[in-house]
Amino acid sequence: MATFHRAEELKRALGALPQVASVDEIKVENDIIKHVTLEAESIGKVTVHQLDVNDAAGLFDFYSHGLSEKPRRQFAPYPLFHTPPVSADELACRIADWKRENDWTAVNLVKDRRIIGFGLLKRFKSEQVTSAIVIRDEFLKKGLGYLLQNIIIEQARLLNLKMFHVKVVSDNLASVRLHEKCGFRQTKVLPSAIYEEIFKYLSDCDRMDGGEAVERQLIEMAIELGSTTEMDKSFSIDDSAGATDSKMMKKNSRGKHGSIKNRT
Ligand SMILES: CC(C)(COP(=O)(O)OP(=O)(O)OC[C@H]1O[C@@H](n2cnc3c(N)ncnc32)[C@H](O)[C@@H]1OP(=O)(O)O)[C@@H](O)C(=O)NCCC(=O)NCCS
Repeated sequence: MATFHRAEELKRALGALPQVASVDEIKVENDIIKHVTLEAESIGKVTVHQLDVNDAAGLFDFYSHGLSEKPRRQFAPYPLFHTPPVSADELACRIADWKRENDWTAVNLVKDRRIIGFGLLKRFKSEQVTSAIVIRDEFLKKGLGYLLQNIIIEQARLLNLKMFHVKVVSDNLASVRLHEKCGFRQTKVLPSAIYEEIFKYLSDCDRMDGGEAVERQLIEMAIELGSTTEMDKSFSIDDSAGATDSKMMKKNSRGKHGSIKNRT
């Protein structure tokens, strides 16, 4: 499908999210989301843009100062954040090295030039496509995790993926619930060897909080992306009326948690 139509489709899908008041600019290149500007109902204008080596300092600040220790530990995707980078320069090298590969995409969510969220979709040319997201502490619970994860889902649709998954620690309720709300379901319990250090940290936290160490597991949650849904079909009937239609659909299609039916 032509890039223009893909961008228009993406614009309508994002515009239909309950958290989004309007989508103002969008740029898609080779099926990769490069840039989106939108008005989030909770915090106003935000941009989403493709990660660049020049973002290393801002991303390192986001990671080391914008996140407290627990979310930092919970968000550990290789190769950028596992093991934790110790400087912006190290992060810049990791981004530059990763840029040589062509099976991933990562976006910054930016408000007033500050990174407030980060999400990625990696190994999308393999069977093991994985996503991960994180939101800056002071912007939690404003619907931004849901927004960012939906952007990743739309990115996966642009790439014609049928399915992808996320790895979550079982008692990370915020992440489990968020992914359920987006249409993910638990599919596996995974060997936790690569998360051993994280599990040890979380058990230490339990004890420091005065309790017993919680028994936790590393779980995989997956989302299946259907082909053309009823909603997609109605989007393509009349392009010129897209913006109005998508707002009407948003009103009519909120599920139990305000999510959009038929898109997962
Ligand atoms: C998981 C995370 C991304 C959620 O971000 P957020 O912006 O606060 O989430 P949202 O405000 O969009 O919430 C969306 C849904 O998630 C769930 N949720 C979010 N925070 C929650 C919490 N503290 N407890 C239970 N459910 C929660 C709810 O179902 C919520 O929907 P609702 O508002 O209709 O109840 C954020 O907590 C985070 O960055 N955590 C650390 C990193 C991490 O664990 N990443 C995921 C691993 S890949």
